[in-house]
Amino acid sequence: MNRWEGKVAIVTGASSGIGVAISKSLVSHGVKVVGLARRLDKLQEIVQELGKDKFFAVECDLRKEEDILKAFKFVEEQFGGADILVNNAGVISPTKIIESDTEEYHKVIDTNLIAPAICSREAVQSLIKRKAAGHIVNINSIAGSYAESLIIPLGMYSASKYGLRALGTELRHEIIASDLDIKITNISPGAVYTEMVQTFLKINAENEIRRLMNLLEDKDIAEATIYALGTPESVEIPEITVIPHKTAFCSVNNELIH
Ligand SMILES: NC(=O)c1ccc[n+]([C@@H]2O[C@H](COP(=O)([O-])OP(=O)(O)OC[C@H]3O[C@@H](n4cnc5c(N)ncnc54)[C@H](OP(=O)(O)O)[C@@H]3O)[C@@H](O)[C@H]2O)c1
Repeated sequence: MNRWEGKVAIVTGASSGIGVAISKSLVSHGVKVVGLARRLDKLQEIVQELGKDKFFAVECDLRKEEDILKAFKFVEEQFGGADILVNNAGVISPTKIIESDTEEYHKVIDTNLIAPAICSREAVQSLIKRKAAGHIVNINSIAGSYAESLIIPLGMYSASKYGLRALGTELRHEIIASDLDIKITNISPGAVYTEMVQTFLKINAENEIRRLMNLLEDKDIAEATIYALGTPESVEIPEITVIPHKTAFCSVNNELIH
């Protein structure tokens, strides 16, 4: 990770769960982190914890392109640009496609797929301008590869995550074609104990969730991110799948399968 010391990362969805864990790990490796999310109060708590010269809070609704462009402008004005982009923010909508309204589709696709595309474009354009090396990490999901094994209602979530996987592949092809020094890594976790799982199961009690599912910790995904970023310049890791030990890809208790 030495090559990234003093460099700048943008982490989307840095107000909770995996985004917080990734931000903390990056800061511990000497990377300045600009955290994007809607809940500024949550981001401010992380500023307090990590230090105002290490973590920078930017209120941003990733469903609004103008918010994203403003956030990238802030990063350009403050630091010249970002070297690392972690497309982490995501939403799950466990409502059935056949029953939900179109706005519900947009919520998931805008956040999980369109926003990473906009952020990636802005990050790559900034890297091109500065002739700098960069790395884009997309936090995907096993739902982005193994939808057949997830027989639980996930609405448009799997569709968005399959799209995110394809986005990463297309970006790599474009980057190779343009002879740029930018790596792309797709990280696909199984279930991780975060607010997302609490919302999905509509349960807050950790013990009850752990009884129903075998879970990863947010720091497990942060470690995978650091591993991908820390590879030698000549090495690129396109895909990391992370599942809990002693678990099949879909480790849900039958109580969850309706
Ligand atoms: N937890 C799991 O089991 C699991 C498994 C596989 C993959 N993942 C993926 O991991 C990523 C992080 O999820 P998590 O588990 O850490 O969930 P989480 O705790 O619910 O965090 C989601 C983050 O996304 C942000 N976000 C959502 N909509 C946004 C919007 N419109 N604009 C800006 N930020 C937005 C939230 O911030 P605000 O609400 O403050 O805006 C929050 O910081 C997601 O992409 C998810 O799909 C999670």
